Amino acid sequence: SRSSTQQSSAADLLVVANRLPVDQVVEADGSTSWRPSPGGLVSALAPVMRRNQGAWIGWPGNAGEEMEPFEEDGLTLVPVALSEEEVAEFYEGFSNDTLWPLYHDLAAKPSFHREWWDSYVRVNQRFADAAAANAAEGATVWVQDYQLQLVPAMLRELRPDLRIGFYLHIPFPPAELFSQLPWRRQILEGLLGADLVGFQLSGAAQNFVRLVRQRVGHKTHRDTVYLPDGRVVRARAFPISIDTEGFEELAASEEVQARAAEIRRDLGNPRTLFLGIDRLDYTKGIHARLRAFSELIADGHLDVEDAVFVQVATPSRERVDQYRQLRDDIDQLVGRVNGDLGRIGRPAISYLHSSFPREEMAALYRAADVMVVTPFRDGMNLVAKEYVACRLDGDGALVLSEFAGAADELRQAYLVNPYDINGMKATMLEASRAQPKEVARRMRAMRKTVSEHDVSHWASTFLTSLAGDPESHTKQTHP
Ligand code: G6P
Repeated sequence: SRSSTQQSSAADLLVVANRLPVDQVVEADGSTSWRPSPGGLVSALAPVMRRNQGAWIGWPGNAGEEMEPFEEDGLTLVPVALSEEEVAEFYEGFSNDTLWPLYHDLAAKPSFHREWWDSYVRVNQRFADAAAANAAEGATVWVQDYQLQLVPAMLRELRPDLRIGFYLHIPFPPAELFSQLPWRRQILEGLLGADLVGFQLSGAAQNFVRLVRQRVGHKTHRDTVYLPDGRVVRARAFPISIDTEGFEELAASEEVQARAAEIRRDLGNPRTLFLGIDRLDYTKGIHARLRAFSELIADGHLDVEDAVFVQVATPSRERVDQYRQLRDDIDQLVGRVNGDLGRIGRPAISYLHSSFPREEMAALYRAADVMVVTPFRDGMNLVAKEYVACRLDGDGALVLSEFAGAADELRQAYLVNPYDINGMKATMLEASRAQPKEVARRMRAMRKTVSEHDVSHWASTFLTSLAGDPESHTKQTHP
């Protein structure tokens, strides 16, 4: 039962993700070029898929016409086109103004619109059709993230021969929040099309199994869901990670070391360089962290002559209202803080609204004494792990929100509650004044974690689990 869509390639391993690993950019003169896509999902999966010569199905990042599949760096890329309206309703709307805030503990108020849902269904079907058309007989298809939760069931309907995995990169909310969603049952049934549903944390997997029992009425036991047709679905945690070796090599390069020294020099060789690097997103807690820092200066605990906060905020989802509002709020805070507390050549906050290549990130990580990662809620947060990987000398302090998935593994970070400004102030100060021995002890333990559990470990654990479990292979229904 192949789909009627034309078969353009036949891969044994396919990733289906909302974004391709590269984004198409249209210049003012109409010419086009490609650049790496933003976000943790792409940075985690791209190295794994390059090594596996798989096919990657995804959206090129702007509204446009259909495009032929093409090869890039050992990967077959299969573009899925979205119209202007679908970008507004499926991507900016349902994905990023309904699901995103709902799945992140209501960090903003989610909007529920029926037309957005209709668009979500249509676009998910398009991704499922593309996967069905490009998968070899018996292939493994790995569907990614909250934008595509209906794809597993749609794909199973078209291609029962496939092994289907799903991985959610963001948190999966507790039943009390998820249940607000008017389409909660359809989402659960969409995910149940997979053989294995992966989450960052075991609590998320438990939330999912509990919801399936309550809302869909299937039998469950621990991590397993028993469907009426005899098929079983497993829900497990697979904490994602980074290309640790890649970052270590980058950080060790002469160019990056020289650039790190240059950054410190350009900032006036401060005694303490605090660093934040985030997508400009209201879940990241950027505003609260900059406020905490500025109060430390205003209170006299830190001095702009020897402390500076470098905040990189990568532009993101700029047409969604709440993101626009956030940008204005941060602009205003940074302006006020620097106006009130800065001196000539010594801003309190050095704010960069821009995205940088990996080399520049590695140099910033190397240059920073205290990395500050304070999301209100975050699936994992790879920036925290990247910082650890780049600290080749074993120094550097990590201040980390206990509400980031990474806090489960990086127990030796300076953990904070991002809602508690005074607590953050105290911990940022403690981290900046800690004895080098204490900082090194913590960093050593975290470096061990990040080097033992890198992204290829993550991918192979997931894929082995998906391939294994023979009793969970698709069963025929017996009348
Ligand atoms: C997070 C999500 C990804 C998403 C990325 C960037 O990491 O888990 O699915 O791709 O943010 O967001 P964007 O909306 O630009 O794709």
